[in-house]
Amino acid sequence: MSKYFSKVSVIGLGYVGLPLSLQFARSGIKVLGFDLDPQKVESINSGKSYLKHFSSESMAEQVSAGRFEATIDPSRLSEVDAILICVPTPLDDHREPDLSYVLETARNIAPHLSKGVLVTLESTTYPGTTEDELRLVLEEGSGMKAGVDFHLAYSPEREDPGREDASVKTIPKVVGGFTPKCGDLAETLYGQALDEIHRVSSCKAAEATKLLENIFRSVNIALVNELKVVYEAMGIDVHEVIDAAATKPFGFMAFRPGPGLGGHCIPIDPFYLTWKAREFGKNTRFIELAGEINTTMPDYVISKVADALNDQGKALKGSKILVLGLAYKANVDDCRESPSFVLMEKLEAKGAVVDYHDSYLPVVPPTREHAHFTGKQSVQIENAYDLILLSTDHSEYKDFDFSNYSCPLVDTRNCIKKRPQKYYQA
Ligand SMILES: NC(=O)c1ccc[n+]([C@@H]2O[C@H](COP(=O)([O-])OP(=O)(O)OC[C@H]3O[C@@H](n4cnc5c(N)ncnc54)[C@H](O)[C@@H]3O)[C@@H](O)[C@H]2O)c1
Repeated sequence: MSKYFSKVSVIGLGYVGLPLSLQFARSGIKVLGFDLDPQKVESINSGKSYLKHFSSESMAEQVSAGRFEATIDPSRLSEVDAILICVPTPLDDHREPDLSYVLETARNIAPHLSKGVLVTLESTTYPGTTEDELRLVLEEGSGMKAGVDFHLAYSPEREDPGREDASVKTIPKVVGGFTPKCGDLAETLYGQALDEIHRVSSCKAAEATKLLENIFRSVNIALVNELKVVYEAMGIDVHEVIDAAATKPFGFMAFRPGPGLGGHCIPIDPFYLTWKAREFGKNTRFIELAGEINTTMPDYVISKVADALNDQGKALKGSKILVLGLAYKANVDDCRESPSFVLMEKLEAKGAVVDYHDSYLPVVPPTREHAHFTGKQSVQIENAYDLILLSTDHSEYKDFDFSNYSCPLVDTRNCIKKRPQKYYQA
């Protein structure tokens, strides 16, 4: 009979860790959240949500019931019987995997592991991270052996912030253990809170699964981005073609072109595999080609903006341009790796004067790569611009009435319904 888990700790209370914590708490399991950010910890303990797509009520309910609390004190991790790590796995300045958050977490928690505890990693990463790198740091810092004194597993997060047709509870969870016993325990742990668990043979297989999912998206987005440019030259609307192809009940899945990749996953994760493949003397040409195509999309958009201005007898230089949407995708307040930043930078480099509108992000938060935009404020949508460029398909733009606008509007998502006369797709 497998162990029953009564108290778990979630490390890293961001877009992944917070919803996961709430799901465990809702299932009657006590959750001790741990984060280095004291503001997040304070916010949780006072029942206030810091993610726009999560209500404070749903959080306060679990906090006041005594099922969810947060701490910055790692010594309290000895209270729990499972630890779930959900910290960032970005790329470094050389576009190579940066495991520093995962390994720092391991160093912090290792001295506080109790015997028999299960540690699972949820952060997206390359195959081998859990069994080779995380395990070594945990063993060294705890003086215990994985698979003997404590248990170790990998289970990729499939969170899709803002999605309403699936939740942490209903999205099937893939788990793989360091040993069969580790896998059994991980299956039990997640089975206590989630509807469906899919067991794989190892941590590596689970790590590789997550990368397959994200590479699949990156490659297919690149394909439709390429087709968008080719079909446009042929006078064919790629969206009409995708809608038509999507009527096929088998063998086709619709992906949509856009202004470039954004978010914490799709622009980054494929390069975790590319980097690791080099260690095995293997090339990942397909993945890299997809990356190349996707990163050229902002240039295509800028050329469409220049053409639209040209039709008005105007140049990019000196034009006032309003960018709609800073978030990397619709209806979320997350602007990490957003192509909107790249578009704004490219427009400014050509001498345009750029404003943005995003009601999810009234002020640009600090970012590593686009620090000069920090503090810039969202403005009103109005007709007083030389051009409006839609970058993110937030719902509010879909129904916004642009039909009386005299300035040209370039739509990178084919989402505007009430279009101005000078409407362009990009
Ligand atoms: N955001 C998504 O939609 C999504 C989806 C699937 C997978 N993922 C993966 O999940 C992981 C986490 O992503 P996220 O979007 O939740 O990141 P996030 O930046 O929103 O949250 C990470 C949290 O970890 C905390 N943190 C950083 N270092 C820490 C440490 N040493 N100890 C304790 N806390 C620490 C940060 O303060 C932050 O609150 C990444 O690997 C990401 O690729 C993200």
